[in-house]
Amino acid sequence: MTAQTPRAANDISSPNDMEAWWLPFTANRSFKRRPRMIARAKDMYYYTPDGREVIDGAAGLWCCNAGHNRDEITAAIQAQAQELDYSPAFQFGHGKGFAIASRIAQLAPGDLNHVFFCNSGSEAVDTALKIALAYWNVRGQGSKTRLIGRERGYHGVGFGGISVGGIVKNRQFFGTLLAGVDHLPHTYNREQQAFTKGEPEWGAHLADELERIVALHDASTTAAVIVEPMAGSTGVIPAPKGYLQRLRQICDKYGLLLIFDEVITGFGRLGTAFAAERYGVVPDIVTFAKGVNSGTVPMGGVVVREGLYDTFMQGPEHMIELFHGYTYSGHPLACAAALAAQDIYRDEKLFERAKALEPVWADAIHSLKGQPNVLDIRTVGLVGAIDLASRPDAVGARAFEAMDRAFNEYGLMMRVTGDTIALSPPLIVTEEQIGEIVDKLAKVIRAVA
Ligand SMILES: Cc1ncc(COP(=O)(O)O)c(C=O)c1O
Repeated sequence: MTAQTPRAANDISSPNDMEAWWLPFTANRSFKRRPRMIARAKDMYYYTPDGREVIDGAAGLWCCNAGHNRDEITAAIQAQAQELDYSPAFQFGHGKGFAIASRIAQLAPGDLNHVFFCNSGSEAVDTALKIALAYWNVRGQGSKTRLIGRERGYHGVGFGGISVGGIVKNRQFFGTLLAGVDHLPHTYNREQQAFTKGEPEWGAHLADELERIVALHDASTTAAVIVEPMAGSTGVIPAPKGYLQRLRQICDKYGLLLIFDEVITGFGRLGTAFAAERYGVVPDIVTFAKGVNSGTVPMGGVVVREGLYDTFMQGPEHMIELFHGYTYSGHPLACAAALAAQDIYRDEKLFERAKALEPVWADAIHSLKGQPNVLDIRTVGLVGAIDLASRPDAVGARAFEAMDRAFNEYGLMMRVTGDTIALSPPLIVTEEQIGEIVDKLAKVIRAVA
């Protein structure tokens, strides 16, 4: 560590260098040598400080579903800040919190109609897991504590989320994690599924592994199963046909809660409000974040089924029913932004738009088959992934270079995980812009060959 000369508290002359910010999930040294800086954004585009236009192929980080800097959302946030900057949600409430909870409950399928707010996807996951555990406790079945996740799952970075998650690097440095967690196998098999559009035919049988896990631990010790309907962060693995329905049946058979982590898939990404609707499956708990207010103010939450909520609503009326919550749960700015974003989704029919564009998007992304090093392509909803062959002894290097050059040289923002490129444009994307994304991507893939 280098010693620093103490500065007066009000000294604002500190150099604006890049050392102080330790960027999350980032190769910091590479970034600081060759930064990818963003100055502003509008609709489908980011702009760099030197004014270059970069098309957003990632909706920021799977979150800006309505596109960037939408006037209606900006105005709602500004008006809210002037009227009510903050109000506590412990024992107090405000109108926009109840309004947006109702809107979200209306969008969620079946009797998923009570919403608990937090501030991120990670918090949403930990909230869902805690509600599941508490539910069995309240019902007098406190031995049901085991949580089942899935290999390659991403459920954020809280200790609960990394415990049920299945991405090795996100787990291996952080100790022993939660006890009593088991994992389903992931559902990706390149031999069986390569170059599939939508849900692969092969793989529903992998849900039956839940039978084996329950047989091992017994249903009396098992609380809940959590999966992403489409595994996103690991590199986009759409659910095999019939897989989620099968999970639901097995959970019903053994009395397990089923949690869908819809932090990415919520709010239109797969062409329906929630992926649960696309698959005709009603889970017991759904998590959301990101798209709820198009990424503008940190917000997450969970939606639970009627019976689950009712189970908690007993005992003396002055007693708190669930000992859980966050200072910023249902923050007024986040709620105002969410109401404005939901208005845009409804008025511009953006979920329907995603659905209508799905075949166009799939054809466009799959046209990259045959480009150098392309091993597989997967698409579902307005999501796409391209697996590139790894360079010898340098897993991730090719895609990392692709991501960097896409931004700095070709004007395209995309995500990478290992050697997989992931794409998820804002739902306002036009067919022409899909063409722009794919043209740029083809050039980038050839550039890193
Ligand atoms: C499925 C899923 N769950 C949880 C999270 C965590 O969300 P956050 O980064 O807002 O904590 C993510 C983030 O990408 C996600 O994709």
